[in-house]
Amino acid sequence: MESYRFRNNDQMPLFGLGTWKSEKGQVFDAVLEALKQGYRHIDCAAIYMNEDEIGEAFTKAFSEGIVKREDLWVTSKLWNTEHQREYVAPALKKTLSDLNLDYLDLYLIHWPVVIRQGVLSPKSADDFQSLAEVPISETWLGMTECVHAGLTRHIGVSNFSIKKLEQMLSEEIVPEMNQIEMHPLLQQKEMLAFCSEHHIGLTAYSPLGSRDRPAGLVKATEPDLFENNVITKISDAHSCSPAQLLIAWAINRGTAVIPKSVNPVRLQQNLEAASITLSGDEMEEIALLDKRYRYLDGNFWIVEGNSYTLENLWDE
Ligand code: A2P
Repeated sequence: MESYRFRNNDQMPLFGLGTWKSEKGQVFDAVLEALKQGYRHIDCAAIYMNEDEIGEAFTKAFSEGIVKREDLWVTSKLWNTEHQREYVAPALKKTLSDLNLDYLDLYLIHWPVVIRQGVLSPKSADDFQSLAEVPISETWLGMTECVHAGLTRHIGVSNFSIKKLEQMLSEEIVPEMNQIEMHPLLQQKEMLAFCSEHHIGLTAYSPLGSRDRPAGLVKATEPDLFENNVITKISDAHSCSPAQLLIAWAINRGTAVIPKSVNPVRLQQNLEAASITLSGDEMEEIALLDKRYRYLDGNFWIVEGNSYTLENLWDE
């Protein structure tokens, strides 16, 4: 399985399992099945509210010899309510306790957005704090302390723009990973070039368009990646499904990719897709599909009177 090599030579499998929207009651079976099939990279987050059940699957997989801890890559993410420096290590310890692990391989700042601690679903400006009040540099100190304490091997960010990454290039630890939405309609070409120049890894989330998003996050009309003519033409040529083609495209670009599934058949199909090789011509044809289209446009962080705008979130 192809992997991304960190600055210290640690390797993360490019192909992983996403667990956002994997419901409790289903995620235990999904993660255990994935590990049995040979998945070696599981992507988690505190806000997915399912880490305790994923931890049960890890414990069972370790005790039954399905996988060893050292052969598994586990990522998790710091939620927006825990950005103060002194909140970071406790948040990570809670995640470790839920996942039944001693350490994480990678811990990410989930969003460059701060919500007041204790607020579950922010509705008014008062529920937020600005990045002037709680700067990313403060959160990053907390993240760095977690590395020194041995709670996580690597640290990075998610949903960060090039501008925000640039502001972190002189930190003691430069972010090692940026996890962002990426698929043929949102190819993030400038980000890819920037991250490759600075040895920052990239992970593609929502690689299949996250069609199972909660209704509140779905727009009235959205493009369907699975119905895209170029995607279906090339997937037909490889006798694979559009979903498999989308996964193969991400791996062929050298980015990590974390499709979510709770279905054993689709889990297997997705794993197999990681070894499909696309030709240069096929990659070029897909490159033309870019529309800078976000399924997750970040609108949910913009409420009247708070400091966040789509412009200052994405810096575009
Ligand atoms: P399911 O969990 O029932 O398999 P994303 O990774 O972009 O968030 O997309 C996840 C969505 O895509 C889920 O609805 C998931 O459903 C579905 N999905 C995952 N793998 C496949 C596949 N190989 N073919 C079709 N749909 C898939």
